[in-house]
Amino acid sequence: MSTAWFTHALVPWYREHQRPLPWRRSSDPYAVWLSEVILQQTRVDQGTAYWLRFMERYPRVELLAGAEEDDVLRLWQGLGYYSRARNLLTAARQVVHEHGGRFPTTHAQLLHLKGVGDYTAAAISSICFGQADAVVDGNVYRVLARVFGIATPIDSTAGRKEFRALAARLIDPTAPGDHNQAVMELGATVCSPKRPRCGECPLADRCSALAHGRIEALPVKEGRTQVRERHFNYLHVQAGERIYVQQRGPGDIWQGLWELPLVETDEALGPRSFNKLTAHLPGGTSGGKWTLVDQMGPVKHVLSHQHLIARFWRVIPPPGLPLPTSWRAVDTSTLAQLALPRLLERYLEGTASESTRLL
Ligand code: ADE
Repeated sequence: MSTAWFTHALVPWYREHQRPLPWRRSSDPYAVWLSEVILQQTRVDQGTAYWLRFMERYPRVELLAGAEEDDVLRLWQGLGYYSRARNLLTAARQVVHEHGGRFPTTHAQLLHLKGVGDYTAAAISSICFGQADAVVDGNVYRVLARVFGIATPIDSTAGRKEFRALAARLIDPTAPGDHNQAVMELGATVCSPKRPRCGECPLADRCSALAHGRIEALPVKEGRTQVRERHFNYLHVQAGERIYVQQRGPGDIWQGLWELPLVETDEALGPRSFNKLTAHLPGGTSGGKWTLVDQMGPVKHVLSHQHLIARFWRVIPPPGLPLPTSWRAVDTSTLAQLALPRLLERYLEGTASESTRLL
């Protein structure tokens, strides 16, 4: 079945409604590459400022190739995933040293540049060199899943294959750059994850999800990699020069490592929720009054399938309260020998720079 209606409706819409983003004024592959790498890390509103700073500092690929890694990392600061910034520098050097300063023009050659994957290669080859390589990013998955009513999970092997094949079938070889950007633009500005603006969509009368009331249900994600958020409240309790620690048990993260005594709660507890925390402390609400000296955090600690939101409570137990036998008071030299999660190590190093030396 012909799918030409897709690009025929979408590309004119894009030409009229696209956001005036600065990198769209040129087809310089350096400018486009930079924008695509930045936009893999952040949204357009924040990413534009980064792109402008990079282009001001390194207007051409030769200038980026000659940069110090530290300077590139500093410009990248705040975007996270710093390997992307290091790859940026490596790829710039590859372009200069292996390609005489000119970006390769085909998808296959572009893939040899450090950090350039299928998505970025297709974006550059289509936008800058007019090649019919389809991009597939999160926006594209969402638009195609809804318009064509595809319920195959987008994070499955079968899904990736199906969507990639469909995107390749849809691409307009006469305007591949605009076509690709149009799908992404529609996903970013109209066909949004929540409450899409179907009234403004050029594909609304062809949209399967809209016709069948499946907008909220599509795209489908298997979600095997769902992230769990946990709230960790660490108790910093001193016994003179010593500090209490506890060893983690089996069946959870960091088995066998040492940490400060931990109270995990279902919700975030700020400094004004100390009363709520005391209900979980030894002695509970009836064993006398715990005193709050200081509170630090929250600190977010990201693991592959869990986000830990940690707060550190410096507290004094009620006088005479027997503390749990699993708590062990250790001096600084013992503490330094214990295996600690990085999260705890950082906190204890931070406290060491204050009056009390802990690590
Ligand atoms: N998101 C990432 N790259 C994009 C592009 N070229 N156009 C629209 N949205 C994008």
